Amino acid sequence: MLRTAVIGLGRIGWSYHVPQIVAHEKLSLCAVVDTSTDRLAEAKEKYGVEGYTDMMEMISAAKPNLVVICTPTHLHAAQSIAAMEAGVDVFLDKPMAKDLSECHAIQEAMERTGRKLMVYQPHRVMPETVALKAVLAENLIGDVYMYKRYVSNYVRRNDWQAMLKYGGGMLNNYGAHYIDQALYLLGSDEEAENIHCIRYRMASLGDADDVVKIVIETKSRKTIDVDINQATKASLPLFVVYGRYGNIIHTRLSDGRPGFKVDYLQPEELKKISLSEDLAAAGRKYAPDAAAELPWKVKEFAVADFSKVNFYDYCYEYFSQGKESFIPVEQTIHLMSIIDTCRNQSDIFA
Ligand SMILES: NC(=O)c1ccc[n+]([C@@H]2O[C@H](COP(=O)([O-])OP(=O)(O)OC[C@H]3O[C@@H](n4cnc5c(N)ncnc54)[C@H](O)[C@@H]3O)[C@@H](O)[C@H]2O)c1
Repeated sequence: MLRTAVIGLGRIGWSYHVPQIVAHEKLSLCAVVDTSTDRLAEAKEKYGVEGYTDMMEMISAAKPNLVVICTPTHLHAAQSIAAMEAGVDVFLDKPMAKDLSECHAIQEAMERTGRKLMVYQPHRVMPETVALKAVLAENLIGDVYMYKRYVSNYVRRNDWQAMLKYGGGMLNNYGAHYIDQALYLLGSDEEAENIHCIRYRMASLGDADDVVKIVIETKSRKTIDVDINQATKASLPLFVVYGRYGNIIHTRLSDGRPGFKVDYLQPEELKKISLSEDLAAAGRKYAPDAAAELPWKVKEFAVADFSKVNFYDYCYEYFSQGKESFIPVEQTIHLMSIIDTCRNQSDIFA
């Protein structure tokens, strides 16, 4: 059994990590930590688990093998480093830390202490991601050249996530999800080369961004276009992927279920045409076949036919069984370096 302690009993710690650990047959919840004694009492009552207000006191008393850190983002670096220095591995909620220099300090502590650390990136295991990865693996649309992701809501956020000094803002918060998801879907070898970011604060209180536009050109010349808008009711397709011979769109399928619709051409079915230097386009037409006449094919993939993967299985394999990390820390550092570039090049327009 992997003795596991949760630090921070907030939205994600209490609603996701604690129940997942309790339900997992290879992990045991050995302690919880929170500065709120009410929350510790709630954990004691519901799970019979001992609570502490100080992480270091908990480590010496409960001797966990693993701590799961789900406190506000500005605390991630200090708590991760302290846990590793005390001989404990760390499963850290995203974003890895407040900024890139803190991420490097965490990586340096991993190397110095020889401890393991993985960052929780739940969107890698969501059914949408599992489904889209399977669709992309079918290679129906030819070379992928552009990936668009849209995330929207209207949120008048007023908690610590609305403040930059706590590592808040949508670039850090959701950017860590959706940039990572894009890189994961397009292939782990995708490296960002040119990055452009625009940020606004529109509906949220505080000083942090709630509207973020990120455009990334990868080394293999794919475009990643991520729109995170927490100040709109407008809905657009959540995913669109463009390839040389077609596109994939997230939509309602013909049976009404949400999923991915693929419209694609098979190059061998296209009639042979040649380039013409004639300065009068033949028949006053600009292409010998109109889109409607092309031999389009359609394939549909319902998201419900794909299941979510249990992230704690990856935790058990990495922290306890000596397997490779599902998310190597170098990938997370690359993600956080993209976010850092975005932050450094964009003011927040309010
Ligand atoms: N992976 C995801 O999908 C996901 C979702 C939500 C939040 N998060 C991340 O998880 C982290 C926490 O976010 P949240 O929304 O759960 O926050 P939250 O505000 O709901 O909860 C934070 C908790 O930490 C406790 N806390 C504060 N200071 C502490 C300290 N020094 N020691 C111990 N506990 C302390 C608070 O009392 C509170 O219970 C953030 O980094 C956030 O980005 C990830």
